[in-house]
Amino acid sequence: MNWMDDKVVLITGGGSGIGLAVVERFVNEGAKVCVMDRSQENIDALETKFNGKVIGLTGDVRSLADNKAAVAKTVDAFGQLDSFIGNAGIWDYMVPLEGQEEDNIEGICDEIFAVNVKGYILGAKAALPELRKTKGNIIFTASSSSFYTGGGGPVYVASKHAVAGLIKQLAYEVAPDIRVNGVAPGGTLTKLGGSSAAGQADSKLDEIPGVDQMIGSMTPLGFTSRPEDHAGIYLLLASDQNGGYITGSLINSDGGIGLGMRPEQ
Ligand SMILES: NC(=O)c1ccc[n+]([C@@H]2O[C@H](COP(=O)([O-])OP(=O)(O)OC[C@H]3O[C@@H](n4cnc5c(N)ncnc54)[C@H](O)[C@@H]3O)[C@@H](O)[C@H]2O)c1
Repeated sequence: MNWMDDKVVLITGGGSGIGLAVVERFVNEGAKVCVMDRSQENIDALETKFNGKVIGLTGDVRSLADNKAAVAKTVDAFGQLDSFIGNAGIWDYMVPLEGQEEDNIEGICDEIFAVNVKGYILGAKAALPELRKTKGNIIFTASSSSFYTGGGGPVYVASKHAVAGLIKQLAYEVAPDIRVNGVAPGGTLTKLGGSSAAGQADSKLDEIPGVDQMIGSMTPLGFTSRPEDHAGIYLLLASDQNGGYITGSLINSDGGIGLGMRPEQ
């Protein structure tokens, strides 16, 4: 018996990075998965690779209609929805507030909050009617930036702190039928991009020179995580058998970054 046999999952941003690792892990544990991503190329690759176990659609998490279409496609194809995973996100490339240009700061705030916060709220809004039927659960990808400084500039860090608040409020509202939790990864080597408003839509975190060494040196564990390092935590939170008493929680998967660094030995 696998952890996710007979379970159906919808994930946003599942075409790349952390989301893709979660899709692979959930399929290996028996789940059927629907992915909404803005990239058609990513969706095509997933449908080919997972032949029947994963379906996808393109959509923008900032649109309620797109989120509702994703829920409808999931239920049409697989009959139910057990877990909604809000995961699509963008970054601000650690630009400090005083470094932001006045003529695009409004657009940068609007875009990053719209994807990282509104996208999760609208995804949950669309998924809740189906999750009520299955007594399912919601998992959001938060971040070490939901707790600490230094993993982004003020726009990204504020957006991920907002995700922590969303998890708690929503968990409180929809209990006892539905559990709501978060996974808070630390720096992870992915193609995480930035906002169009900042001209960073095509930037990729893993192409920043020296980023692997830089992130690794910020953590007591001393290395930078890969997407698959976090996937098992989503599995724990999605599983009623293993995580059924967890709600309103964020699980940190960040190399111990909040512990601080020891002085050089
Ligand atoms: N990489 C890190 O260091 C790190 C650390 C902590 C948290 N996170 C969070 O992890 C999540 C996943 O990011 P990742 O690092 O795997 O990056 P990624 O770019 O590899 O994956 C993000 C996916 O989201 C999709 N996406 C972006 N905007 C979208 C939109 N408006 N509508 C639909 N799909 C959209 C992208 O196409 C992509 O497939 C994000 O919420 C990010 O903030 C990342």
